Amino acid sequence: MSAFTPHNLPYSLAIAAASLVPVFLMYVVFRRPGTIRNIPGPPSPSWIFGHTLQLILPTRYGEHEFGWQQSYGAVYRLKDCFGVRSVELLSSGLIPSQQDRLMVADPAALHYIVNSPHFKFSPMLENLAYLLYGPKKSCFCSCTVEEHKSLRAALNVGFTAAAVRSYHSTFEKAASRLTEELHNSSSTTIDICPLLSFATLSTIGEAVLGQSPEELGEELIRNNLEIVAVAASHSRQQILAEAILSCLPAWLFRAAAHLPTPTLRTARDAKRLAYELGNRIVQEKLVAARDGLDTDGDVFGVLCMDGSGTTKNGLPGDVVAAQTALFLIAGQETTATTLVLGLRELSRLPEFQANLRSEIMAKTGNIAYDSMPLLNSFIKESLRMFPILPIDDRIAREDTIIPLSEKITLSTGEEISQIVLEKGQIVSIAIAAFQRLESRWGKDAHEFNPNRWLQGSAYKGAEALGPYANLLSFLGGPHSCLGWRFA
Ligand code: HEM
Ligand SMILES: *[C@@H]1O[C@H](CO)[C@@H](O)[C@H](O)[C@H]1NC(C)=O
Repeated sequence: MSAFTPHNLPYSLAIAAASLVPVFLMYVVFRRPGTIRNIPGPPSPSWIFGHTLQLILPTRYGEHEFGWQQSYGAVYRLKDCFGVRSVELLSSGLIPSQQDRLMVADPAALHYIVNSPHFKFSPMLENLAYLLYGPKKSCFCSCTVEEHKSLRAALNVGFTAAAVRSYHSTFEKAASRLTEELHNSSSTTIDICPLLSFATLSTIGEAVLGQSPEELGEELIRNNLEIVAVAASHSRQQILAEAILSCLPAWLFRAAAHLPTPTLRTARDAKRLAYELGNRIVQEKLVAARDGLDTDGDVFGVLCMDGSGTTKNGLPGDVVAAQTALFLIAGQETTATTLVLGLRELSRLPEFQANLRSEIMAKTGNIAYDSMPLLNSFIKESLRMFPILPIDDRIAREDTIIPLSEKITLSTGEEISQIVLEKGQIVSIAIAAFQRLESRWGKDAHEFNPNRWLQGSAYKGAEALGPYANLLSFLGGPHSCLGWRFA
């Protein structure tokens, strides 16, 4: 009897369909997505590392990246470490697509990526955030969109323009102390890196937490410097290890975070020390507020103003405390290094430096920083030339379409004005490269020229990006830097 009698037809169809499932899965797993495969990019120098070494370990700021942008434009394709993409994506439940990384400096595309809910932090960044900042609830990076929104709204109370103005006297005290230290030094050569690093840490200690360096404690300060040192000394081995680690499912990574290696121990200590400190401070602030004392003058004080055990917006005290590590790490070295790189450029512009000094000296009393044109142009140009996070990675949560300001030509010769991305695609927000685009900043985009901000020739293009000066140094959209005014 034939299997295909009308009676058992549904059954046979089901078997036929089931036998197609593996084929369908193979198609889903191995199909090549629409346009990204044909987006041109430099040839990969290494099967193991792809372009990651050139990207992460340049000898000069933007060494390879700016050249690639020159040759391939504001959107191009790079290779990641060997095969890692597919494994990592499988483990995170996303559909593996390819080992390509899309580099994006096109303004319209960037505007879309930083604002769209279709993107989230790459698994590597989520892992890192877990290591440094702790479990999900308190973490800015790996909570859900809704959790993030309400956490941010609550914390923003401590970072509004008015709140930040109330910290000015703290900033000025730190500046005077640093100036005095420089004047005191008898040496003709001074390494300003450690001085600025300590100055920013103590400023954050005081203006965010209301604590002097002594109150922060030696152990926490030493640990903080170690974390920065670890982050700054990337090696080939580390890049490979991170690539492999980010293939692990989240639970396995979290278990591995308890391994007794020196780096992981430093990260665990950072988390613990910051949390203990934060808890103590929040308790103190709540008691002070209940006793009717003025807790204004620092971020935690502003947040715990009514002393009810929660912030004004109902954020529990322990959630505020859990942000301590984030503030200490996100705020300190970012600001210190921006200053170092800016001051280095300033030393090469003696005339501008002299004028800036006069502008600062002429100010007395309550300083409105915004009304100082030379100071502002110097800050903007430092942030434009040397964003401390030159590249920020995201991963597409779902299939999405990225618009482009300028058409690009595929290797097939076809011109496109938008890019079709598949779920799971890694995208690099090329912040530094965007800020050197000649189409936006002019022919002298690679020159440190604060005057461009005074002449109003700083950028061309309609899209407003980022919270400050049309720059992406503080990123943009819902995850932009909470502390940009403070910085
Ligand atoms: C020049 C100095 C600074 C720069 C260039 C900078 C840059 C950035 C960038 C690019 C991000 C986004 C990271 C990402 O989404 O992958 C960020 C986030 C953040 N920054 Fe800053 N930052 C600076 C100083 C500060 C300071 C002083 C503070 C606090 C006192 C701070 C607090 C934060 C916080 C809390 C976030 C997380 C925001 C969120 O995810 O919603 N930053 N910063
Ligand atoms: C600078 O020197 C004076 C006089 O020796 C001293 O009192 C002061 O503490 C020093 N300041 C700093 C910041 O080192």
